[in-house]
Amino acid sequence: MKVLLINGSPKGARSNSLRLAKSFVDGFSEEVGKTEKIEIEELTLASMKIGPCKGCFACWKYTPGNCCIKDDMQAVIEKEVNADLIIWSFPLYYFNVPGILKNLIDRQLPMNLPFMSERTDGYGNGNHESRYDRSGTRHVLISTCGFWTAKDNYDSVTRMFDHFVGKNNYTTIFCGQGELFHVKELSERTDDYLSTVKMAGEGFAKGSISEEIQAKLKEPLYPKEMFESMANASWGVSRETGEKEPDDLIFTRQMTALYNKAAYDGKDRVLEMNYTDLGTSYQIILGRDGSKVVTDRSVTSTTVVNTPFKVWSAISQGEMNGAEALSKGLYSVTGDFSLMMNWSKFFGGAQSASKNDTKTESEQTNNVSQKIKNPSMTTMLIPWIAFWIACAINPVIGGLISIGICAFVPVLIGNRRIVIWDKLSIAAVAILAVASNITGNGALFTNIGYLVFGLLWIVSCIVKEPLCATYVKYSFGGESASKNPLFMKTNYILAALWGVLYVLTAVWTWFLRQNGFETVILIINNIVPVVMGIFTGWFQKWYPAHLARGKKA
Ligand SMILES: Cc1cc2nc3c(=O)[nH]c(=O)nc-3n(C[C@H](O)[C@H](O)[C@H](O)COP(=O)(O)O)c2cc1C
Repeated sequence: MKVLLINGSPKGARSNSLRLAKSFVDGFSEEVGKTEKIEIEELTLASMKIGPCKGCFACWKYTPGNCCIKDDMQAVIEKEVNADLIIWSFPLYYFNVPGILKNLIDRQLPMNLPFMSERTDGYGNGNHESRYDRSGTRHVLISTCGFWTAKDNYDSVTRMFDHFVGKNNYTTIFCGQGELFHVKELSERTDDYLSTVKMAGEGFAKGSISEEIQAKLKEPLYPKEMFESMANASWGVSRETGEKEPDDLIFTRQMTALYNKAAYDGKDRVLEMNYTDLGTSYQIILGRDGSKVVTDRSVTSTTVVNTPFKVWSAISQGEMNGAEALSKGLYSVTGDFSLMMNWSKFFGGAQSASKNDTKTESEQTNNVSQKIKNPSMTTMLIPWIAFWIACAINPVIGGLISIGICAFVPVLIGNRRIVIWDKLSIAAVAILAVASNITGNGALFTNIGYLVFGLLWIVSCIVKEPLCATYVKYSFGGESASKNPLFMKTNYILAALWGVLYVLTAVWTWFLRQNGFETVILIINNIVPVVMGIFTGWFQKWYPAHLARGKKA
């Protein structure tokens, strides 16, 4: 199988469209490669010599099938004729293909016979048959454009391809907001799009691209309003004066454009960006209806970030992680810290907003019914609490009740995702409940339960993610929270404290029971977790803010 990838972007290897085309080829070749050998050749028109057609018809009259211009086009024709699949990768220029690609298209004249023939596909009038049998050649058009959507912007392109490769004889992937593919801060969203393009490549190799993938490819990368303000800010030119703006203001405007107003929680915020190395400062109003930059510091800030501009530049280039820089003391924050802890919700969660914006109501309803919900700590706690209460009252019947609850936890929690800590808890409680039921010794096994519960928390401190983080990260931007050292540090400390508390609970419960203080056990073992819960609520807000004020941990 021979694949010819024609890169028609004047930007050559830096082409946005090429990134999509390469993802498509990856998916396609992975699939085809399972059964046959695949040869992929890439042509970069920007570095080839393909001049415009002279219109002399020599290729029809004097040297049939051969052009009189001696440049790279003869070789291109040969490759086109031999290709099983041609991928046309190009940007949209003035609602059509760029000149270098149009040159190639015009120079295909030697591939046609000069004789007039009828159009047999009912599309257009008049035809010149192909000199070669190209009936088996498949075509895919992959292109990015600069507007927020590709919709209705490609009519000239598709009309042209309808005429020269035949209507319905090619597949298209057209994507708006193309310039975002080289913005590193947005790579989470653009990489997601590229992986969908790859799936399209796999689907195409299997015979067709599913409707679901096609629909995903048509979703705008970001909502129109957000994209347009990002795009407008990226030029770095003042709308009022037409003059170039300073880099720190351009950066602030771009960040402002990324604000996801869906994250608005009823609290108006003013974020002050204080660039300590430049001595400049701008404020960003984050409200219900969107965001706005204030350049004269005329409003009252709720959060002030003091940072050298070069640190922000490094973060925006993807050379440094923002939270990591904060934990290293490269900048400090004063005022309301909730904004920093939820940074990805305010400035990075736009992709989910874009998805919702473009879905129909019925699509959204369908998704809700099928959607697996995020894990909840309740899933892990239900078996333990049931076990401690039931076996303390009656070890035999309590044991049976606990086993029943363990069996029904997946049903009780609905379609929540079950994580490792849920599974370990269910298994541990089931074993302890069986032991309690057989031996009738509820006191011993509830006490071992405290020890096991404590050890679960402690063990979680030596793995990738502490137990509490696995559940609460979804309130702090999801997976991206795991990359936030402040969030992780806070959760490691809390997991260790809860672990130690329950190991100690096992120890004092055993000791007090030996000495007949049953009532004291009842009081202490109920009060202590409540106090620790209140402490947890306070600590998870206080500790990151304490670190961010520049104090070392
Ligand atoms: C000369 C020129 C004309 C353009 N015309 C359009 C256009 O008509 N519509 C559009 O949406 N984008 C237009 N764009 C934007 C490009 O299509 C967009 O930047 C694309 O992502 C570039 O892709 P590439 O990196 O593969 O070359 C134009 C860009 C240039 C430089």
